[in-house]
Amino acid sequence: MMIRNLEKKDAAAAALLIVQLTKNIVEPEKLAGRIEALVDASNCQWLVAELGGQVAGFGGLTWYAIPSKGLIAWVDELIVDEKFRRQGIAKLLMQELLAIARQNNIRQVKLTSTGGPASSLYESLGFIKKDQEYFIKK
Ligand SMILES: CC(C)(COP(=O)(O)OP(=O)(O)OC[C@H]1O[C@@H](n2cnc3c(N)ncnc32)[C@H](O)[C@@H]1OP(=O)(O)O)[C@@H](O)C(=O)NCCC(=O)NCCS
Repeated sequence: MMIRNLEKKDAAAAALLIVQLTKNIVEPEKLAGRIEALVDASNCQWLVAELGGQVAGFGGLTWYAIPSKGLIAWVDELIVDEKFRRQGIAKLLMQELLAIARQNNIRQVKLTSTGGPASSLYESLGFIKKDQEYFIKK
């Protein structure tokens, strides 16, 4: 198993993984193109886990600067293919994303959790659940 940077050739396989994470995909016909664009973006790093030549997992870190802290980042769309779960792949992806955060002097990493297994994973990596109210506008 290998963790490596996302490449444009991974777009179709990564798109299939995202369908396992959410059914709520805006303009699904643009999904693969949006994944390809992440390869060239300068404020993020997206990783894949490759196992036996297949894309088994996917996830990314996106950063920006705020006045009080400097660089902060979000982890988004962490997914492991159902066929490959409980083998430590998500943990390895997260550890690598956190290493990238350290290398880039990012002061805080945030994420939202789907609960259950994902929350156990994040807690095992030292993430703390905050009670702050979370708002979203679509
Ligand atoms: C959450 C998810 C990414 C975990 O991927 P995974 O590769 O199976 O996770 P790992 O094997 O690396 O497990 C790491 C830790 O997560 C927790 N965990 C993972 N799956 C679990 C499960 N089914 N039940 C309980 N804990 C679980 C455990 O703490 C585990 O450590 P352990 O194996 O030493 O007990 C995967 O289940 C998934 O893709 N789910 C659907 C998408 C999703 O919800 N993504 C999270 C977005 S916030």
